[in-house]
Amino acid sequence: MGTSAWRSLAAKLGVEQPLIQAPMGGGITTPELVAAVSNAGGLGSIGASYLAPEDILRQAQAVRALTQRPFAINLFSPVGPTKSVDPAPMLEILARYHAQLGLPAPQSPATALPDFLGQVEAVLASAPAVFSFTFGIPSASVLESFKSRGILVAGTATNVQEARQLEASGVDAIVAQGSEAGGHRGTFAGPFESGLVGTMALVPQVVDAVKLPVIASGGIMDGRGIAAARMLGASGVQLGTAFMTCREAGTAVAHKAVLRGARDDSMRITRAFTGRPGRMIANEFITALEGSEAVLPFPAQHYATIALRGAAARQGDTRFMALWAGQGAALSRDVSAADLVKALLSETDTVLRSAVE
Ligand SMILES: Cc1cc2nc3c(=O)[nH]c(=O)nc-3n(C[C@H](O)[C@H](O)[C@H](O)COP(=O)(O)O)c2cc1C
Repeated sequence: MGTSAWRSLAAKLGVEQPLIQAPMGGGITTPELVAAVSNAGGLGSIGASYLAPEDILRQAQAVRALTQRPFAINLFSPVGPTKSVDPAPMLEILARYHAQLGLPAPQSPATALPDFLGQVEAVLASAPAVFSFTFGIPSASVLESFKSRGILVAGTATNVQEARQLEASGVDAIVAQGSEAGGHRGTFAGPFESGLVGTMALVPQVVDAVKLPVIASGGIMDGRGIAAARMLGASGVQLGTAFMTCREAGTAVAHKAVLRGARDDSMRITRAFTGRPGRMIANEFITALEGSEAVLPFPAQHYATIALRGAAARQGDTRFMALWAGQGAALSRDVSAADLVKALLSETDTVLRSAVE
């Protein structure tokens, strides 16, 4: 059953193995990373959430120049308007950190991501094999525009209720994001605490609740995790943190080093860097902003901290970097993406074989 579900999703995605390199917004998913994963028989994904339409087109072209295989493009589903908050207290806090890094005073941040429908047009024009999304469910007409062009649509759920809503919306597959995951929480149908279900508990419950293929995500770092996900009924897996330390990933050098040296308990879920809860490794900035009412709503906080994070990354100063990480980061490896995919698949085979011995 596990095996036929696995093969069936592979066929739908047009790949050898439904092993998905997670979309990661913010420059990690370089065309080289995405193409290397697809060329190795998995599915590479472009994290396009923060990109302007012309940059989405450029990235997709760059991937296509490196692979003829299928790949995915991912966007954030639009989050409703949030109450406007005075940025002055946050800018005052940030000014102190800017001074430490020799940066000019912070400016009032942008309060919106690039226009979603413009991004959708660019994704449609790029014609990826798969369109995936998180943070909600795009409108029926947006979903239909992908489906009518034969683009497979995958949405992210962090609990059973969200998985049911996604199924009702007509998506083709569901990414079940467990609480171990690195990056933002995808939770949309309630407070984010209602989406803190661990992958081990979440996957079988989502598998039981929907008829669609379920892609397990969160804390999967090696063949043991992939084999476990398959045993839980997952038809595919999506790994983010495991790919962040690959040579082709755009992850800052200092960030890669922190991931490799992380512990199981190094991470926190915090709003400090973007205004939306996400999992990353604790550092001075997160500790300082814990519980602060000055933190702006997403995406204003993301844009408010972008200069600080960028300068810190260039200077290798991990105190002020957003050190995104899933709870399995300590299991990450310093390898090429092709070698990682190869190792993950052969480890999975070994584990599955030894399980039935
Ligand atoms: C740095 C980072 C950025 C992420 N950005 C996105 C994103 O733009 N869209 C998305 O659907 N998921 C995003 N995710 C979540 C992943 O899709 C996935 O749920 C997560 O990486 C799985 O957990 P793992 O990191 O333990 O493998 C991101 C994850 C990380 C680590």
